[in-house]
Amino acid sequence: MFGREKKRESKPFDPSMPLIHLKDVYKIYRMGDNEVRANDGISMDIYDGEFVAIVGKSGSGKSTIMNIIGALDVPTQGEYVLGGEDVSRMKGDQLASIRNRMIGFIFQQYNLLPRQNLLENVELPLLYAGVKASERRKRAMESLERVGVADKWRHKPSQLSGGQQQRVSIARALVGNPSLILADEPTGALDSRTSRDVLGFLKQLNDEGNTIILITHDNSIALQAKRIVRIHDGKIVFDGSAEAYREEISHGN
Ligand SMILES: Nc1ncnc2c1ncn2[C@@H]1O[C@H](COP(=O)(O)OP(=O)(O)OP(=O)(O)O)[C@@H](O)[C@H]1O
Ligand SMILES: [Mg+2]
Repeated sequence: MFGREKKRESKPFDPSMPLIHLKDVYKIYRMGDNEVRANDGISMDIYDGEFVAIVGKSGSGKSTIMNIIGALDVPTQGEYVLGGEDVSRMKGDQLASIRNRMIGFIFQQYNLLPRQNLLENVELPLLYAGVKASERRKRAMESLERVGVADKWRHKPSQLSGGQQQRVSIARALVGNPSLILADEPTGALDSRTSRDVLGFLKQLNDEGNTIILITHDNSIALQAKRIVRIHDGKIVFDGSAEAYREEISHGN
């Protein structure tokens, strides 16, 4: 795979340690006299190479925990350590840096830039990381090849189907060789056949050793992961294997 020429401010990471360590994480929004506990004491460890689905109903706190795991936001209280680095106390620039170094994002609406072609879209994380132009182009093309749309590199996103656009966004998530791929409802805008295609691709990436966290409200999608964490009212109410989760929901829980 790609080498990491990016500047490493961090200590070398011990693989026997969890990649993600969340301990008593709270995100509390105060609205006048009311408080909303969007995350109400979340603790979990995720190790390198896992494929985890975080599932829960609308308003259960999925996006809130995803924003924390993705270093887009910090907890009100509690500890979050990513790859040995304490994210809970980071500020804007530090958060942007760890995001760029460690995380590839896949969103429901793809979030591709409409005026840029596919190659330029996929190059973007490398541009932020300060990789030089020739190297950027080479790696972005390799990444487009991995997802099977390299022949369309000159096209604009709008000239592609939804499934193809999601593949491009996966290529963009992979291009920086991230430690973690974070996918928020990645099949939410796709038909069932294309969804299967995208989920199959995520499974393949996991088989190749990538760590994946998939956020969804849909049990049947969550069951594609190996481990399932269910949240309800900001708390973890289930954390176990897909088999155990299948058993749990078949009993109507
Ligand atoms: N900025 C905010 N200010 C106040 N309350 C918020 C804020 N963001 C989220 N919340 C509240 O926190 C709770 C969890 O929201 P969150 O967006 O994490 O849910 P979700 O599980 O992602 O839901 P959905 O499936 O609808 O996306 C909700 O009650 C929501 O109203
Ligand atoms: Mg959400």
